[in-house]
Amino acid sequence: MAGKFNVYIFFNLLSIVIGHELTQVVILSRHNIRTPLTVNLERLSPNVWPIWDQQAGYLTAKGARLEEHMGEYISKWLKKENLLSENCPDENSVYTYANGLQRTRNSAKAFVRGAFRSCNVTVHSINSDKMDPTFHPILRNTSNVLRNVIIKEMQEKLNKLELNQSYRDLEEIIDLENSDLCKKDNVCSFVNTKDVIYYEIGEEPNVEGPLAYGNSIVDSFIMSYYEGMPLDKVGWGKITTTKKWESLAKITKENQNIRFNYSILAKEVAKPLINYIKELFDNENAPKFTLLHGHDSNLNSVMAAIGFKYYVLPDQYEHTPIGGKLILQKWHDKELEIDLLKVNYVYQTVEQLREGIKATDESPLWCEMEISGCPIDENGYCHWEDFMNILRAL
Ligand SMILES: *[C@@H]1O[C@H](CO)[C@@H](O)[C@H](O)[C@H]1NC(C)=O
Ligand SMILES: *[C@@H]1O[C@H](CO)[C@@H](O)[C@H](O)[C@H]1NC(C)=O
Ligand SMILES: *[C@@H]1O[C@H](CO)[C@@H](O)[C@H](O)[C@H]1NC(C)=O
Ligand SMILES: *[C@@H]1O[C@H](CO)[C@@H](O)[C@H](O)[C@H]1NC(C)=O
Repeated sequence: MAGKFNVYIFFNLLSIVIGHELTQVVILSRHNIRTPLTVNLERLSPNVWPIWDQQAGYLTAKGARLEEHMGEYISKWLKKENLLSENCPDENSVYTYANGLQRTRNSAKAFVRGAFRSCNVTVHSINSDKMDPTFHPILRNTSNVLRNVIIKEMQEKLNKLELNQSYRDLEEIIDLENSDLCKKDNVCSFVNTKDVIYYEIGEEPNVEGPLAYGNSIVDSFIMSYYEGMPLDKVGWGKITTTKKWESLAKITKENQNIRFNYSILAKEVAKPLINYIKELFDNENAPKFTLLHGHDSNLNSVMAAIGFKYYVLPDQYEHTPIGGKLILQKWHDKELEIDLLKVNYVYQTVEQLREGIKATDESPLWCEMEISGCPIDENGYCHWEDFMNILRAL
């Protein structure tokens, strides 16, 4: 709860730093609530999985509604800070760009509906249900030297992974022993199975084994919970305590940590998106507000490449929660005549998502973020030039 208190204190400060003017905002967002990604969950448990009314990996109606509220909420803030006026924006002031998948395109459209209702704001995206190269966090460099460095780092992290308790909790919930995965493929224990690194040019860095299975399963529990399913349909009613949720969610957190949270790997896979962001900040004619709608993999790799310090989001099990937004803000200090950077993670808590609470002044939490190499003052600002030097060096 102490963390939450800080978040609120901070939110008040946002409006009382006099003489600071907001001049540009880039939001990197994760899509909102979606159906589970894996279609063959049946193999992983003999229990009956909940039925979703859309195909795998699609934004749900509730996800769209929550994202629309986020759009309305964020645009109010942008207007309050005078970055945008009350009029409909043109393409020189607002630009929205989503990855090609349905859940990211529709999240951006929902955001725009809420933010710029009855205005003509286009969501830009490739329209093909494929990953857009800008958002695709894949390995591109064919150097064997780089390959060896990355695999070594991943293996070191895998060796230190401590998920035994989480796996034991999960095995019990899914009844792994009676699953096809055990009976047909002979994977009868996650604790005793090793993960194997998957490193292919043109693919995302990945692992095969219990971490990937566990991630699919826990992700589906988390989405069912957010979606508001009755509790007997969420992990078959067996996730009864916060402690159990935290134990399970550790698997999804570590999955992202193992796959994307490294400096060298992240610089490689996030290069196109980081270049895109760098150009937005380098170009004097760039839109004042840009919304980029992508995935947790985008947030994790971009943050790791830039060197964000470790952070904790109160009342969330996910490290990059559904619908959560990294908000990069350029401020001008009129007194000192300098530009400043401020970064916040804005997100809804687990319970706000489940209850479908509309984003209002009381609801999303603002977490203050810091980048190593861009030390913040007591109000959370760091020097713009320090930040740009970091981006230019990537
Ligand atoms: C909306 O914007 C698009 C792209 O900028 C443009 O082609 C279209 O004519 C606009 N529609 C209206 C109704 O203004
Ligand atoms: C690929 O990685 C190697 C080793 O780190 C580096 O020397 C080379 O410049 C990289 N190539 C590209 C195209 O980035
Ligand atoms: C986790 O379980 C494996 C397999 O039983 C064991 O080798 C390993 O030492 C355990 N790790 C920890 C941290 O207890
Ligand atoms: C990312 O990696 C850093 C350095 O290894 C580590 O301190 C941090 O806890 C990791 N973050 C997450 C969310 O796992």
